[in-house]
Amino acid sequence: MNSTAQVRAKFLNYFKSKGHAIIASAPLVPENDPSTLFTGSGMQPMVPFLLGEKHPLGTRIADSQKCFRSQDIEEVGDNRHTTFFEMLGNWSLGDYFKKEQIPWMFEFLTGELGLDASKLFVTVFRGSPDLGISRDDEAVMLWQAAFSSKGVDAKDIDHSERDGMQGGRIFYYPEKKNWWSRAGVPEKMPVGELGGPDTEMFWDFGADRGLHESSAWKSEPCHVNCDCGRFVEIGNNVFMQYIKKESGFELLPKANVDFGGGLERMAAAVNNDPDVFRIDLFDGARTVLEAASSKKYGANEADTFAFRVVLDHVRAATFLICDGVLPSNKDQGYFVRRLIRRAVRFARRLGVSGSVVRDVSASFIDVYADAYPDLSSKRDAILSALEMEEGKFAKTVEQGLKELKRVFEKTGGFTAVDAFNLYQSYGFPLELTVEELQRSHNLTVDADVFRAEFKKHQDLSRAGSEQKFAGGLADHSAETTRLHTATHLLHQALRMVLGDHVQQKGSNITAERLRFDFSHPEKMTPEQIVKVQELVNGAIAKDFPVNFELMDTEAAKTAGAIGLFEDKYASIGGKIKVYTVGHMNGGEWFSREVCGGPHVSSTGELGTLTIQKEEAVAAGVRRIKAIVSGTITA
Ligand code: ALA
Repeated sequence: MNSTAQVRAKFLNYFKSKGHAIIASAPLVPENDPSTLFTGSGMQPMVPFLLGEKHPLGTRIADSQKCFRSQDIEEVGDNRHTTFFEMLGNWSLGDYFKKEQIPWMFEFLTGELGLDASKLFVTVFRGSPDLGISRDDEAVMLWQAAFSSKGVDAKDIDHSERDGMQGGRIFYYPEKKNWWSRAGVPEKMPVGELGGPDTEMFWDFGADRGLHESSAWKSEPCHVNCDCGRFVEIGNNVFMQYIKKESGFELLPKANVDFGGGLERMAAAVNNDPDVFRIDLFDGARTVLEAASSKKYGANEADTFAFRVVLDHVRAATFLICDGVLPSNKDQGYFVRRLIRRAVRFARRLGVSGSVVRDVSASFIDVYADAYPDLSSKRDAILSALEMEEGKFAKTVEQGLKELKRVFEKTGGFTAVDAFNLYQSYGFPLELTVEELQRSHNLTVDADVFRAEFKKHQDLSRAGSEQKFAGGLADHSAETTRLHTATHLLHQALRMVLGDHVQQKGSNITAERLRFDFSHPEKMTPEQIVKVQELVNGAIAKDFPVNFELMDTEAAKTAGAIGLFEDKYASIGGKIKVYTVGHMNGGEWFSREVCGGPHVSSTGELGTLTIQKEEAVAAGVRRIKAIVSGTITA
């Protein structure tokens, strides 16, 4: 049998044999991409290279990238959705295109993985007169030739969901399904964002398993994009050849391929078991949970759902903590907290009484020891962070139960408004109130009234919290790139004015402004602020070129580079990227900093920098907020 590790290895070896350099996974939290909270696709760390920057390892790259999709938390529970997953990826950076990618993918799936061609189905882009992009007939011809090599007739169908399969193997779909960008469909893409039509591959787990008949779609015909779980998307070939401009889409200077395939789903296809939670990666953790709950995975639907939530959430939290995200109420940490607390709740549903998160996590750490040695080396820290959070939640639950009892004894009942207050003041989840009232008093809570209270409160306090649920792009990449380069200038100017003790402590960029935290013991004087601003604007006026070189750490230090030497994004093939603002070989330069990019090509694109605010954020740490103005001259 193929283990998941074998599927991963086969993929990487296959693309190595096709001349690809294999790179390590980037961390789950992008360090130099302020536009997203998490790495949600393999493409994210590749953006500068898809835009045309030269990749030091060449034009063919492959990897297995850790991904976390916070927007999928509520999707977990079915046979195939997980918040954390590994995305197998191969890239052509302006090198090969469709006529290589499609036959290779077919060969990999049917040859290397041994998947039966008659159970593979594909979708292709229907074309769009609005976008001025035509139907992808080339992809269809290539798929047809590939299927025909295995004796499989591949009829193409212009598909409408209502029509079912109609004996087709290749289905045309519009942008909604067969267009990919980090932001989704073309109209959601910000200016400067990359995208293109794609062709997706599906594995058919078979009509005979009753997945469709037992689903919410049972009264409609089943088809490849049906959500019943019979067909599972195992990979997506994106033909990344467009960039969005104010006036519409333009072709990139070179056409790229961005393939992404879910490792876990491919392994499930190889097992021919539609349940991704049955692949070997989950075996150990499932067994731990079975022992703790005295329940058998798969015995009934409600329990299976709960098992999956616990397995998914603990695995995701384990990887996120490993990449430096601790549970908290803010930003990325908020999701780790939510994952752990939700896992604890669903474990309770399974009847687990003591703590279990730690043991489930430990078994994932063991399973992934070879692929992700980081997990093993940080084992103790990961496990204690999980244990602490589980303990905090236990306290919340204890306090909540006490309060519930007090209110009940005082008023002789418990209303939905009481339930909301309990949630609001103690963080006590509605679900636990429902369980407790049911158990101890045989009472129910009117969930509609609870929701109405919730909504009232939400409307009052609607702040930035919703943004936290958005997984996609927050802003314009052209704007953030300008501000990113401005941050380098600011960092250097601060050191020139305040001294070499100034070090970056944090950076956050939106389309509107940059925010830069740095070490400095006291408030800056107005004169110092003016001086810093002048230095930055002087460097902008000189229209310095911005370029990077790959160096080893020592050479970078000798060359005068500053910045976060441990920045994983800046590290490629054992070397680090060092960006110079100014001339590289002996000429005048202003800033030299370790960084993953992206940056503008010359400082003239920045306009004028204005520092809007200088304030303290912690002892010895100051924060500057600044904007740039002016038009992009590119
Ligand atoms: N970047 C593409 C995706 O995430 C392959 O689906």
